[in-house]
Amino acid sequence: MQRHDEDSIRINPSILAADFVNMQAELARIDGADFVHVDVMDNHFVPNLTFGPQMVERIQATSPVPLDVHLMITDPDRWAPGYAELGAASVTFHLEAAAEPVALARRLREIGSRAGVAVKPGTPVESLFDHLGEFDQILVMTVEPGFGGQSFMPDTMPKLRLLADEARRRGSSVWLQVDGGIGEATIAQAAEAGADTFVAGSAVFGAGDPDAAIRGLRGLAAAHHH
Ligand code: DX5
Ligand code: ZN
Repeated sequence: MQRHDEDSIRINPSILAADFVNMQAELARIDGADFVHVDVMDNHFVPNLTFGPQMVERIQATSPVPLDVHLMITDPDRWAPGYAELGAASVTFHLEAAAEPVALARRLREIGSRAGVAVKPGTPVESLFDHLGEFDQILVMTVEPGFGGQSFMPDTMPKLRLLADEARRRGSSVWLQVDGGIGEATIAQAAEAGADTFVAGSAVFGAGDPDAAIRGLRGLAAAHHH
């Protein structure tokens, strides 16, 4: 039974699982997505390296859907505003890496993007409770950040549930995002725990028909979100 309007569920495919030398064609395969999730890694905050603002600017110019930039980088206080300035609809930085997370979120909103904050699986979320209004999105990582294709960590679900309860209690409209190992086998439990925004890399780009995979995930999430 559908318990939630599919319009309030967001499915954001991660281009980490796409073919980097055919990016324009890959982006065209996911025009049914809500946002395209763009993983920026600096080889310092995480042990992997992707690309920086020059590439993101080209993706921005080419993508049929808005950009959801996930910064897995050191010193986001310095670098995150540049991604908002190039036109990304949403910019998410890591709480563990930010010196002044609230000030940085305010700066991102001033520039005109949505402001997101991400936490690794082992990072508590209680310090965010008094500042929910400062963020448009909170990303609960469901794998250790750095690589696509890892297994979903179900032990992150109590933290997500806690956050969802607190957001509800405070009347907050913050989006709750999950990222890592999300697919047909795991999306229901994340939706059940309170997520409304879902990143999926291999589950979308690894499918024969990515837009059909997006529709399938959206239906499952809507059926389990409440
Ligand atoms: C991992 C990245 C994810 C990754 C997800 O650090 O943040 O966005 O691309 O990939 P899947 O869905 O394959 O786990
Ligand atoms: Zn990501």
